[in-house]
Amino acid sequence: MHENDGRRVARYDLVTPMLPCKQEILAGVDRLLSTGEYILGREVRALESEMAAACGAADAVGVSSGSAALYLALQIAGVGPGVEVVTTPYTFVATIEAIIRLGGTPVFVDLDPRTLNLDPALAEAAVTPRTRVLLPVHIFGMPCEMEPLERTAAHHGLDIVEDMCQAFGSYYRGRPCGSLGRLACLSFYPTKNLPGIGDGGLVLCRDAGDAALLRRLRGHETVRIGERLHAGWNSRLDEIQALAIRVRLSRFADEQADRDRAAAVYDELVPEANRLAAPLPGSGVRVTHHQYWIRVPERAKLEARLREAGVDFGIYYAPPLHRHELAEYCRVHGEMKHADAAGREVLALPIHQALPERDARRIGALVQSHLAGTS
Ligand SMILES: Cc1ncc(COP(=O)(O)O)c(C=O)c1O
Repeated sequence: MHENDGRRVARYDLVTPMLPCKQEILAGVDRLLSTGEYILGREVRALESEMAAACGAADAVGVSSGSAALYLALQIAGVGPGVEVVTTPYTFVATIEAIIRLGGTPVFVDLDPRTLNLDPALAEAAVTPRTRVLLPVHIFGMPCEMEPLERTAAHHGLDIVEDMCQAFGSYYRGRPCGSLGRLACLSFYPTKNLPGIGDGGLVLCRDAGDAALLRRLRGHETVRIGERLHAGWNSRLDEIQALAIRVRLSRFADEQADRDRAAAVYDELVPEANRLAAPLPGSGVRVTHHQYWIRVPERAKLEARLREAGVDFGIYYAPPLHRHELAEYCRVHGEMKHADAAGREVLALPIHQALPERDARRIGALVQSHLAGTS
């Protein structure tokens, strides 16, 4: 088989899905320019209520990034010096930066190798009297196994804060991500499934009181929570971002259907042992494939083949965070065997709203032949 038909396949296409939205966004910006309402205005308020409705949350608070969302949510949940947060080492560094910047300690537990999400039984075992929060990350758009985490949280009086920066639109047993914890954090970084045209983020809240505190903290107000006095900071969301995100939100179902079609082609061609298994019908689980990952034992060989075929790909998270410099501030609970294996073996294939089916077929077939040891 001739693997390179001369065209390069990029991992992302941020421009094509924007084209049908362009006129609406430009008209909105034109309107904004004449109102002078540039920050925290009508667009942000509308986005907040639309997103709360979409995620089954009581309220939502627009902020400047996913990182700011994590910082503020963990601040509200009482993370500070001496406080432990149980989480995964297989995530973007922003997840633990927020904990560390608040003076808390990330506690890493190993993964369920089938989903690459944290193993809930290990999370339960890692709880100590210093633990205050469980921080599951729905990695690559696959929801974490929440029911055991909810039992652990209830048993020990902990809060769950979701890092759903990669999982807008995903569902766990019929419940949307964003409704599964006291607070949930979302990023609108331009490569995300629901993107902005710059930085942006959101905190989804189960409790209206939390939303009120977040609105104060994102705008420089000083807030006392329990014994502790908290300094605010500028974590506001711009009107232009909110406007662009709202336009994309109105098209989200169609855009996600395009991603789903590409994922279905990969599912057909890549053996189940080397990828995320599709959710069982009737399970109520919905995966949005922020990344479509495969697992390959001798990854370097496939990397070379993909490069030769002009196919862009991503390597995550190598090394995982228990091997990052910031691990100096973390506690590692037990072996990280599955996280290390994921760092060595996982590769993300191109997936986006505008990926032509023939490209997905060509890439899937290449992976299939590589795994079968044929050429
Ligand atoms: C899992 C995870 N957490 C946090 C973040 C931080 O989001 P942002 O880049 O908007 O600060 C990201 C995305 O970049 C992410 O993928």
